[in-house]
Amino acid sequence: MIFWFIAGFLLLVFLLLNVMCRRQVVPRKLSFEGIEPPGAVQAFDTFSRLLPPFRILRLLFSRELKRYSPQGTLVDAGCGPGYLILLIARQFPHLRIIGVDIAQSMVNAATHNIAVRGLTERIDLRQGDIHKLPFKAKSLDFIVSTLALHHWERPSKAFREIYRVLKPGGQFLIFDFRRDTRGLVYWFLWFITNRIAPKPLRQVQEPFSSLQSAYTVAEVQDFLQDSPFHYRVVKPSVAWMFVHGKR
Ligand SMILES: C[S@@+](CC[C@H](N)C(=O)[O-])C[C@H]1O[C@@H](n2cnc3c(N)ncnc32)[C@H](O)[C@@H]1O
Repeated sequence: MIFWFIAGFLLLVFLLLNVMCRRQVVPRKLSFEGIEPPGAVQAFDTFSRLLPPFRILRLLFSRELKRYSPQGTLVDAGCGPGYLILLIARQFPHLRIIGVDIAQSMVNAATHNIAVRGLTERIDLRQGDIHKLPFKAKSLDFIVSTLALHHWERPSKAFREIYRVLKPGGQFLIFDFRRDTRGLVYWFLWFITNRIAPKPLRQVQEPFSSLQSAYTVAEVQDFLQDSPFHYRVVKPSVAWMFVHGKR
């Protein structure tokens, strides 16, 4: 009880200070494609499993996902170590779930995490690139993705690829940082990266460089404008955005 009170109070102070900071207009820093180095994969795995912001993110995401009543086959594009698909598998037991990641080392980490939790029967994993997904046209019902959009080199191409593999009526839901957030968020992620994160993550400047390579809300709107999706919406929040669309 006291923990939640203090956490809520600190969050409130953070949000109040944050609105007093200016929205940042900074050029995008190019991101690398997959997370491959074993040290970085292991550090990201530990970070993602244990740190409250990652867990909260997944809960936020699954709450948003519930609104769209996913059915059939759901793919997590850029699934990383697989903690989101583990949560989705538990919360949506009727779904067939496939995790895809460009980095074979991430697919290996996810394979391990899913096996030790006894969910191998429910979840398939594949190596694959969002720009050229290993699925037939009109074969999927839902595509989700968290914290991966900023790695995509050609988001317009990726959205066209998502359109190709979704069945008519199929949906996507994407969550990522927005680069056009306020100064305090920049400071906070810089602090986590350089003072709290383990060495392998600090060496690749994560999660700070993810924020620097994130797209702005306007940029994502432009990518969607360029895509065949007629129904698409960007929902911006403090430091992140949800992007939802339907084929
Ligand atoms: C920051 S991690 C996020 C992992 C996971 N979605 C999460 O929220 O914890 C980004 C992941 O996207 C993967 N990735 C990057 N570019 C990709 C691409 N073009 N296609 C598929 N996966 C990609 C990386 O290898 C990495 O595992």
